[in-house]
Amino acid sequence: PSASFRLDPGFTIAPVHRRTFGSFVEHMGRCVYTGIYEPGHPTADEDGFRQDVLDLTRELGVTTVRYPGGNFVSGYRWEDGVGPVAQRPVRRDLAWHSLETNEVGIDEFARWARKADVEVMYALNLGTRGVQEALDVHEYLNHPEGTHLSELRRSNGTKEPHGVRMFCLGNEMDGPWQTGHKTAHEYGRLAAEVARALRAAEPDLELVACGSSNSSMPTFGAWEGTVLELAYDQVDYISAHAYYEETDGDLGSFLASAVDMDYFIDSIVATADAVGARLKSPKRINVSFDEWNVWYQSRFNNAPVPTTWEQGRPVIEDHYSAVDAVVVGSLLISLLRHSDRVTAACQAQLVNVIAPIMTEPGGGAWRQTIFHPFALTSRLARGTVLRVQVETPTYATERYGDVPLLDAVATHDPATGEVVVLVVNRDRAEALDLEVGLAAFGDLSPLEAWTVGGDDPYARNTADQPDRVRPEPLDARVLTGGTLSTRLPPVSWSVIRLG
Ligand code: AHR
Repeated sequence: PSASFRLDPGFTIAPVHRRTFGSFVEHMGRCVYTGIYEPGHPTADEDGFRQDVLDLTRELGVTTVRYPGGNFVSGYRWEDGVGPVAQRPVRRDLAWHSLETNEVGIDEFARWARKADVEVMYALNLGTRGVQEALDVHEYLNHPEGTHLSELRRSNGTKEPHGVRMFCLGNEMDGPWQTGHKTAHEYGRLAAEVARALRAAEPDLELVACGSSNSSMPTFGAWEGTVLELAYDQVDYISAHAYYEETDGDLGSFLASAVDMDYFIDSIVATADAVGARLKSPKRINVSFDEWNVWYQSRFNNAPVPTTWEQGRPVIEDHYSAVDAVVVGSLLISLLRHSDRVTAACQAQLVNVIAPIMTEPGGGAWRQTIFHPFALTSRLARGTVLRVQVETPTYATERYGDVPLLDAVATHDPATGEVVVLVVNRDRAEALDLEVGLAAFGDLSPLEAWTVGGDDPYARNTADQPDRVRPEPLDARVLTGGTLSTRLPPVSWSVIRLG
């Protein structure tokens, strides 16, 4: 089969937002303890942070990190995690049936974030708490000095305010599994009041209301409509969460996961804009896609509920295959092509818990297959996202009907003149010949070209063989007349940078 498209620097969607390459650190499983933090580890620095994980975080190209949850946050008391570590209480975490020792709290995490050179996106507990807690943690984080909680932060060793810009107003409040789960009406009112109070303290914060936990929630659509009717003027974003997995050996549908992501985003935007129209508001609500990934949730749902209370018990440590990496690459394509409305996103999570980075306690850290498309996209996608209209064969899927074999997006950086093409071949058996018309950009030639996937879709990286799946060089040429020509392996994600 073959496919093609043409690019033009004038057909732009929006800037590439650096926040598209966000990640997520939850107090869950081994994400924090033996993930980012492991005092006594051979690479631990003076604060107990693993430098091997810090190095991989920087290499991954992560920009913004959501913290501290997740379902965890809906029972969390932020003040447990500040002050002298020896005096911090041990608590039950009901979300993951584990113990939280609070050795890491917001000051430690913010220190880690500075070292990793990432922005903190702070999630507030609106499960068991509300307006007062939100104001208190905001005062602790952002008030410069001279008040009780800003002075407490200063006496705990952080003189300057943390300067957090983005706050999530709770987590997955539509989900019956959430501690303090609410109806859309209950939540919309609370979100509006928390937002109003926070803005009285600091008007230009960026505030995210909870949207649906996935597109198959029974309340999807109605939830967003009600919440935004109640909080439209107070918030800037509505959140989206989505996890994908291959079920019943249906690889064809799994490879088409981005079709669902496209549908999910388009439906949220349409719902938000419909509310805006009813309210006669010129304001537009953007989407914070602050949890997305491949997650074999069906395995997790069948796992026995723990009977003991422990800290740092491994939870949902999925080991990813090459095909999982191809799907992650395609989800990044979907996020980029929606850059006009998706202006922040977080792959969930960063370390050990459904994560691109894995660690051995006391041992090494290594890259899962899904690390590679994320790192390459974050490094290479620059400037402006270009509109792409593909000519491609389709194939039939169980879940989504006929789906294009090729999915693609491109970016153009007017500052350097570079063009980056990101593509997925969903064909399970055959390579796809691709031609991309680039004549509108003048003379371009490939500077680098990489592909992930190909011959063994179920190959995995392990601690012993951490580089089994990694980006392989892709043969790509520009023909006379300015046409990029390449052959995409079956089940592959690829990126080509031209300049
Ligand atoms: O990322 C794992 C969990 O998935 C998060 O805690 C929750 O928000 C979502 O359901």
